[in-house]
Amino acid sequence: MIEVTQLHPFFVGEVSGVDLREPVDAETLGALIQAIDTHGLLVFHDQEIDDEQQLAFSANFGELRMSSRNIRSDYTSRIDPRMTDISNLDANGDVLKSDDRERLYMLANRFWHTDNAFRLVPAKYSLLSARVVPPDGGETEFTDMRAAYDALPDKMKARLEGKVAIHSIMHSRAVMGFADYSQEELDALPPVPHAMVRTHPGSGRKALYIASYAHEIQGMDTPEARMLLHDLMEHATQRQFVHTHTWRAGDLVMWDNRCTMHRARDYDMTQRRDLHRSTVMDDGPTVSDAQVA
Ligand code: OGA
Ligand code: MN
Repeated sequence: MIEVTQLHPFFVGEVSGVDLREPVDAETLGALIQAIDTHGLLVFHDQEIDDEQQLAFSANFGELRMSSRNIRSDYTSRIDPRMTDISNLDANGDVLKSDDRERLYMLANRFWHTDNAFRLVPAKYSLLSARVVPPDGGETEFTDMRAAYDALPDKMKARLEGKVAIHSIMHSRAVMGFADYSQEELDALPPVPHAMVRTHPGSGRKALYIASYAHEIQGMDTPEARMLLHDLMEHATQRQFVHTHTWRAGDLVMWDNRCTMHRARDYDMTQRRDLHRSTVMDDGPTVSDAQVA
């Protein structure tokens, strides 16, 4: 049986007693689902897996989605195209040059976000496997959006009820000063609406659902919406809600995007960092058609 140790006062379970190279039985799968429903984020150590094994494990949790970068006709993935390449490496496995478009684009992972919130059906789970890690830096920080929601004043909870934010991947890139898009990308990734408060199915708890992609709130003037989003982001990323994961090669971290946010931290990008992500799709849009009207 698996064992789970909570690593943070609010969330994060460290899991032992499972080998992710092997198929998991129904009992173990049930225990893992229960663990992620409770903890929002699971950490597994010493899992030397390849892409096939990672994809097979990930598929236990739902339908997989490939990287939005594969939308581009000029993009060829270095790794299995069903996965998202979270590395600083080019197709030959060499470190990307400092002015490389891919490298600059990926820097936006250092903004707080929840995966695929720039898509109408966002990500449910992300599974990130560390194959090569730099000697220092390059941590990933996570924040607990159920705890952040719980800590909001009642007045704010009431204000957010039923509110819909508009998310766009171009927004976070624009904030960073990156604007080098092709028409193909602009067409493929238009702004999308998302509920700002979601009920997390696995726990029945409410979670704040925002990301650095959010730049408008329906029915609100832009400056007011941006300041509210800014305040909520500041609230949700206070240190008491944050867990820092320091990577070791062989770690696999799985998180529930419906109740957490995360961001990458800086590191010396002349050093290799090679992480592979598999992504499980959410069940559907977070807003009904009526709300989008
Ligand atoms: C991701 C991501 C952060 C990191 O894989 O979705 O945002 O630390 N990664 O690389
Ligand atoms: Mn991410």
